[in-house]
Amino acid sequence: MARDKTILKALAGETQATPPIWMMRQAGRYLPEYRATRAEAGDFLSLCYNPDLATEVTLQPIRRYGFDAAILFADILLVPQALGADLWFVTGEGPRLSTVTTQADFDKLGPAADIHETLNPIYQTVRNLSGALPSETTLIGFAGAPWTVATYMVAGRGTPDQGPAHALKDENRPVFEALMDRITEATILYLSAQIDAGAEVVKVFDSWAGSLKGKDFEDFAVAPAKRIISALKEKHPGTPIIAFPREAGDGYIGFHAKTGADCVAVDDSVTPEWAAANVQKDGCVQGNLASRHMVTGGEDLVRETRKVVEGFKNGPHIFNLGHGITPDADPDNVQLMIDTIRGG
Ligand code: CP3
Repeated sequence: MARDKTILKALAGETQATPPIWMMRQAGRYLPEYRATRAEAGDFLSLCYNPDLATEVTLQPIRRYGFDAAILFADILLVPQALGADLWFVTGEGPRLSTVTTQADFDKLGPAADIHETLNPIYQTVRNLSGALPSETTLIGFAGAPWTVATYMVAGRGTPDQGPAHALKDENRPVFEALMDRITEATILYLSAQIDAGAEVVKVFDSWAGSLKGKDFEDFAVAPAKRIISALKEKHPGTPIIAFPREAGDGYIGFHAKTGADCVAVDDSVTPEWAAANVQKDGCVQGNLASRHMVTGGEDLVRETRKVVEGFKNGPHIFNLGHGITPDADPDNVQLMIDTIRGG
């Protein structure tokens, strides 16, 4: 039954001889079949909001590689859009959004309860997938963490140091906190609806958690994760949750216990040995091969893949990259990584 799925076993705390595998951004531009479906959709956002095509691109890496998990094809920036922000993608550059830096900007956002109108096609993709996936494959839903989503909503784009969001936090705390609250409420409703539609696990991506230091990390990475996880556990006690406070460093220590996450995903700025001793001792860990190996391949890939498997072999582990696979990756290197893990 469902609990026989290798990802769910790892999330329940089981140590397995061969770790289950999936990859962040496994459906993406490094795959020719993804590029073809994206061209058919016209652009990235049209692909996200087309349940048939989003289902197709989610399934592509499962067909090609037999990963143990499929991750819903969508984006963390659909939540700001559902709250009323303008969102568009500039080819070769990345996302652009209308900005929230004043009380008047904040007042233009809609209530969290209204997000479903925009996000209904995403729930349809989840329903399609839960009927279409092989029985051994786990379906993972996701959302961005409030801080990471706020960094894009405040700056209107990706930023190297999240400067505009830090400035709002330090200079207009009431608006910053109101924005964090609104995103948190929307995220709980969004993830809960994904679980109702058939997501078996959900992951919260805090890609920019590493720029929060000291008390800021506790207030704006730990506390919102705890609030989201508590609310979801109350409504869906059986659904495991993966938290990814990327580049948290020492902040990874105790993150399971502080937030209630079933699994903490770690990036490749920490070694498997360090993460096993300091994080895996508290529960399942996901990670953490550097994604550049999917570009460079060869002996280095094989050696580093074995190091990750070896480093985490004494506890519950889900094999993944330290961050998303990049568009310049070679699909054959992904196969080499999988063969190395499954074949020894
Ligand atoms: O992992 C998956 O395969 C599931 C789908 C997924 C996407 N984005 C698809 C996507 C997931 C889980 C995300 C999460 C996401 N989106 C994050 C958090 C994880 C991380 O990578 O740190 C962030 C910060 C975003 C915001 C975002 N979306 C940016 C900054 C960009 C542009 C950068 C880029 O690679 O072009 C996107 C676009 C995006 N999201 C693409 C994909 C496949 C590329 C779009 C395309 O096809 O052109």
